[in-house]
Amino acid sequence: MSRRGAGATAVLALLLAASACRPDGDAAPGGGAVLRMLVPANERPFWLPLAETFAKARPGVRLELEEGPVPTDLRESLTTSALLSRDGAYDLVYLDVTWTSKLAAAGWLLPLDDAFGEEERAAFLPQALTAGLFRGRLYRVPFRTDVGLLYYRADLLARAGIAPPRTFADLETAARRLQSPPDRWGFLWQGAQYEGLVCFFLEVLHGHGGSWIDPETLEVGLDRPEAEAALAFLVRARSAGGISPPGVTAYREEETRHLFQSGRAVFLRSWPYVFRLAQREESAVAGKIGVLPVPTLSGAPGSGTLGGWGLAVARASRRPEEAIAFVRHATTLPSQRLFCAPTGFAPARKDAYADPELLAANPFLAELGKIHASATARPVVARYAQASDVLQRHLTAALAGLSTPREALAAAARETRALLGEAP
Ligand code: GLC
Repeated sequence: MSRRGAGATAVLALLLAASACRPDGDAAPGGGAVLRMLVPANERPFWLPLAETFAKARPGVRLELEEGPVPTDLRESLTTSALLSRDGAYDLVYLDVTWTSKLAAAGWLLPLDDAFGEEERAAFLPQALTAGLFRGRLYRVPFRTDVGLLYYRADLLARAGIAPPRTFADLETAARRLQSPPDRWGFLWQGAQYEGLVCFFLEVLHGHGGSWIDPETLEVGLDRPEAEAALAFLVRARSAGGISPPGVTAYREEETRHLFQSGRAVFLRSWPYVFRLAQREESAVAGKIGVLPVPTLSGAPGSGTLGGWGLAVARASRRPEEAIAFVRHATTLPSQRLFCAPTGFAPARKDAYADPELLAANPFLAELGKIHASATARPVVARYAQASDVLQRHLTAALAGLSTPREALAAAARETRALLGEAP
């Protein structure tokens, strides 16, 4: 069983038990309608103000926010199980860029083409909008967006007279020179067996000129020399005498952020939200960090993996109109301010990148808009979750030294081809 299965099953049982206790799942105490949505536990406090402003704008409708696990894989399994049961447990779905194809292909989401016309769609960053399309129809409206970035300790590099690295080789050399393990490591990244590892690996893969799955032709590029060189970079980084701690294979986003923020690393690969948190007063590296596009072999600016989250309406919802009204409400500029200013998450609306209030809260936004434009999307295939599981498993085997990069990628390529060749 994949990792995503086990944890999600347990959480789902709890959530279903909780909703079974409600005699009328749709009604709020004292009348009125309730909309339900699952959000990651760490984001829930920031969704509450949006639920409040929505309740004011639409009296009689209340948004109930259920707390779910933070990793995207676990919440995807949970969401899938809930939508599969078609019991209307969730009216709204808060979904990753990679979930759209699967949930839409299964017929679990309401097409939103009529509700969001051309003019409304034009308000969003193009890549974020594209991530909501499946077979030409709109199923997901972008809410916040992500792109992989390279953070670095500007103070340490400047003191040593080292230019911010643009190539993998320069990154490795600088990390080696400036690290003093185990107190300070050279390079942190998300190495646990989960979706974040795929996001990072794809940046290294693309930076080496390689590819994973071509969504048009379904061609798989994992057993080519570029991919082997990319995985060899990761394995070398983590091996004895390398630039990353052995524990990196247990790290997700937050573990790496905490270490970087407490001054325990020179470089960190992560998402835009780190910038604001690492610059807060209580951070040991406030005022000492810089951000770059991810590196490449040639030194040309790399392309970070496109991430991000959007909103969709469950087809089984008994309140589709109210649910659509919430999607509209959450994606206005004032709502984007409410959510993105305190969190440092990157907004999905274009106008947010020139908004004085948001820029004052997070000056990094101005630069981010440009970096974001060159992000690379993960392949849009209905079997994305399985393809990602295959890759995660074989990357993990190579990182653990159980197979060589070549063996791991040959096996991953074979399994991915078999998976994509099967009827959905
Ligand atoms: C971030 C990204 C998401 C990605 C996930 C991986 O949440 O927005 O797209 O799948 O990280 O951990």
